[in-house]
Amino acid sequence: MPPAATETNGQSKDEKNMPYQGAQPYGMPDDLVIPNVMDLDGTDERLWVPQAPDVWFRPLLFGTSQGYFVNILKVKKSGVLSRHKHTGTVHAFTLRGKWHYLEHDWWATAGGYSMEPPGETHTLVVPEGVDQTVIVFVVSGAYVYVDPHGKAERIEDVFTKLQMARDHYEKVGLGADYVNQFIR
Ligand SMILES: [Fe+2]
Repeated sequence: MPPAATETNGQSKDEKNMPYQGAQPYGMPDDLVIPNVMDLDGTDERLWVPQAPDVWFRPLLFGTSQGYFVNILKVKKSGVLSRHKHTGTVHAFTLRGKWHYLEHDWWATAGGYSMEPPGETHTLVVPEGVDQTVIVFVVSGAYVYVDPHGKAERIEDVFTKLQMARDHYEKVGLGADYVNQFIR
């Protein structure tokens, strides 16, 4: 029997607009949805976790099961910020300001995207005259902070970031468990 006129690709019009009717897999975590993350100036200041003098991060996701994290880094100073090696891939979306690595010719500027491959070691610099740099970072693996010769000094990963955020949110009255909503 030929398909009815109301069918497309084997689905009736009613079915085309129907949500998936099955069950999701057991163990599926909740979606993570945070409104207005690009409202950089309207944010509750307590959400910004101090990372270093004049440097803060706002966590969006702590991927503890896969060893990655997503955060917004806000920098209100210029000069060398850090020298580090990555054990995983980094995706960066620069929202404000500009920055570069001493090891490369390219610059990251507001509105741009950049990717840093695992294994790379580089020295992050914000140039003089840039008051504020804001970057969304999607970071897999760890930062290994190193001296100019590659000697490791300390590491940072999803778990150190999570602990920093817990300590800060406890201190500012949001409670250490405020971070739990960001863990996947
Ligand atoms: Fe980097």
